[in-house]
Amino acid sequence: MKLWGGRFAKETDALTDHFNSSISFDSRLYKQDIIGSIAHVMMLGKRSIIKEEEALQIKEGLLSLLEAIEQGNVTFNEKAEDIHMNIETLLISRIGEVAKKMHTGRSRNDQVALDMRLYVMEEILSIRDLLHNLMGVLIKVAKDHTETIMPGYTHLQRAQPITFSHHLMAYFEMFKRDYKKLSFTLDMTSSLPLGSGALATTTYPLDREEVANTLGFLEVCANSIDGVSDRDFCLDLLYNLSVMMMHLSRFSEEIILWSSHEFHFIELDDAYSTGSSIMPQKKNPDIAELVRGKCGRVYGDLMGLLATMKSLPLAYNKDMQEDKERTFDAIDTIKMCLPIFTAMLDTMTIRKDAMYKAASGGFTNATDAADYLVKKGMAFRDAHEVIGKLVLYCVTHGKDLESLSLEEYTAIHPIFETDIYEAISLATCVNERKVKGGPSKEAVMAHLESAEAFLGV
Ligand code: ARG
Repeated sequence: MKLWGGRFAKETDALTDHFNSSISFDSRLYKQDIIGSIAHVMMLGKRSIIKEEEALQIKEGLLSLLEAIEQGNVTFNEKAEDIHMNIETLLISRIGEVAKKMHTGRSRNDQVALDMRLYVMEEILSIRDLLHNLMGVLIKVAKDHTETIMPGYTHLQRAQPITFSHHLMAYFEMFKRDYKKLSFTLDMTSSLPLGSGALATTTYPLDREEVANTLGFLEVCANSIDGVSDRDFCLDLLYNLSVMMMHLSRFSEEIILWSSHEFHFIELDDAYSTGSSIMPQKKNPDIAELVRGKCGRVYGDLMGLLATMKSLPLAYNKDMQEDKERTFDAIDTIKMCLPIFTAMLDTMTIRKDAMYKAASGGFTNATDAADYLVKKGMAFRDAHEVIGKLVLYCVTHGKDLESLSLEEYTAIHPIFETDIYEAISLATCVNERKVKGGPSKEAVMAHLESAEAFLGV
């Protein structure tokens, strides 16, 4: 007999049970469900809605059920539909009639909203920790490479020299934004839906503030209809995770490029690379590729849930049961990606020489050559023209700006003097860019300091 079987004259079809059931995926909410029920019944006891000793009996029963589940001694049943009714059914079989009082003044609608919020809040904390580790490794590697010159790119064409440290710290900023957004989502999620009932609260004198305090919520949902209908917190998290995966996938793409023979800027550690079953020479960046690939999967989770929620009338609709697999999948995916990506980064070898070589000879210092002329009094637009001519000369003669003789320089314009060589050396190009946020050692060190302060290290 179902917990809601009273109104039914006949059993549900097995297909209905299977189709309707969510226990195969919402069983992971068992802890949140039990903790939420304990807070609820203790408040019911305190408010004399049920007897205090009944509340205590239910609490003891729930705690021992929690232990049994954690020890793997409980099997859930598809016929009991979801985690909420499985727990209630199990509790009735363990402690008897008194367990039937647990659901007083509550609906599965506010219960499931509570469980999901508790789950999301806990997962945000652990994702934030993983992100914190990644940011720590970024700082660690960046600290070693404040003088490692590499080309910076636009349009994937060599543009201006930067340092590897400067490049890595761009990702630090992305992850910092992700971290802050997660914290914001955490606060937005921290609103207690319990007490909303099915949609219109209840006539029992519930103390919602008390339950919010016990469970660590910042506030109580202000409208009971919204309390049971709102899944914005799942969408907010999915959006945060999508952007985070986008950052990881851009980083992965660069790692894949950098580890190719064409770039050869880095070498991934053997422990975080894979081979080919046919080509003996191969060492593939599978981890970075999979992280890049899984980004699409998290986008799918976000789009899927957005589509599910679209046009749903208020208040609860069973469609909303679809929130779980999307949210769980995105959380599981990011929790798999972050640690392995961090370890891969921590162990890769940086090929400073290859980076330097790529930065030299590709005219990455052409802007600095133009600025050299500006410092000598020429207008920037004219300087641009002169250096453009020099570059054309180099391209047709197979030379670069560093290797031109002073005669070749002065043949294009008499203003050049021997100090041109110092002005266009890559170290000068990088270290003269002292502007806040720039690539000079000085500017990057200041950034590293504020980054460490953010992490609290
Ligand atoms: N398993 C359901 C879900 O995940 C729980 C809420 C069910 N409520 C209801 N009125 N059928 O959404």
